[in-house]
Amino acid sequence: MADSKSVLFKIRRQGSPHTSPHWEEFSLAWHPGMNVISSLMEIARNPVTRDGKPTTPITYDANCLEEVCGSCAMLINGTARMACSALIDKLEQPVRLEPLSKFPIVRDLAVDRSVLFENLKRAKAWVPIDGTYDLGSGPRMTMEEQEAAYPLSRCISCCCCMEVCPQFNEDTGFVGAATISQVRLFNTHPTGSALKRERLAALMGDGGIQECGYAQNCVEICPKDIPLTRSISEVGGAVMKQAIGDLFRK
Ligand code: SF4
Ligand code: SF4
Ligand code: FES
Repeated sequence: MADSKSVLFKIRRQGSPHTSPHWEEFSLAWHPGMNVISSLMEIARNPVTRDGKPTTPITYDANCLEEVCGSCAMLINGTARMACSALIDKLEQPVRLEPLSKFPIVRDLAVDRSVLFENLKRAKAWVPIDGTYDLGSGPRMTMEEQEAAYPLSRCISCCCCMEVCPQFNEDTGFVGAATISQVRLFNTHPTGSALKRERLAALMGDGGIQECGYAQNCVEICPKDIPLTRSISEVGGAVMKQAIGDLFRK
């Protein structure tokens, strides 16, 4: 009988950034439509391991439960993806859950992804409408411009593209594909383009766009199908043009 099936989980636990990780196994009764987050909620209601040992609920991040907020990214069977859209029926068992590996651990499956927000600040990834100068009524965007911008605006800051990028590490300080794509988005916005030069300048030098090895792991993993390699090519071309122009202006 289908309802008597069970689902086995193997979850990497770590109490704090300073303690050693260990694994715990959990077994839940199968029911239709289970996903990773609903399973973690179920474990939290009765935190007992597979061999009957009481333990603590698993710590993880989640909010929207519909692949919009980007907070529930983790490694599921070794792949960076969103836990709220990972259906148990489509996963091999035991379902192995681990935190993203390139970000500081907070606890269990929760990691600190503030590096992305620092990178977005570095690249001024916003439209400057702070009211300190007159922007007028603002230019209109054509349908074509809106259609080109929309896919880029779908980024949910999940950091999966950075997790899988071979160049995103402490040695390079590379900003990663998400930030580069946001530079493209805001530079093509008619009001946002006021900061275009500063954004491109932020992507020059160490940790900038030249660190990208064009391995394309990012575009393959992105849960929102953002055309990241196209963004990298376009922004890379613009950075190069500006750098050469600046040389001649000196
Ligand atoms: S193309 Fe490759 S190196 Fe460049 S950002 Fe994407 S994964 Fe990283
Ligand atoms: S570009 Fe894609 S993979 Fe990267 S943070 Fe945004 S949504 Fe996530
Ligand atoms: S909980 Fe928001 S994307 Fe998964």
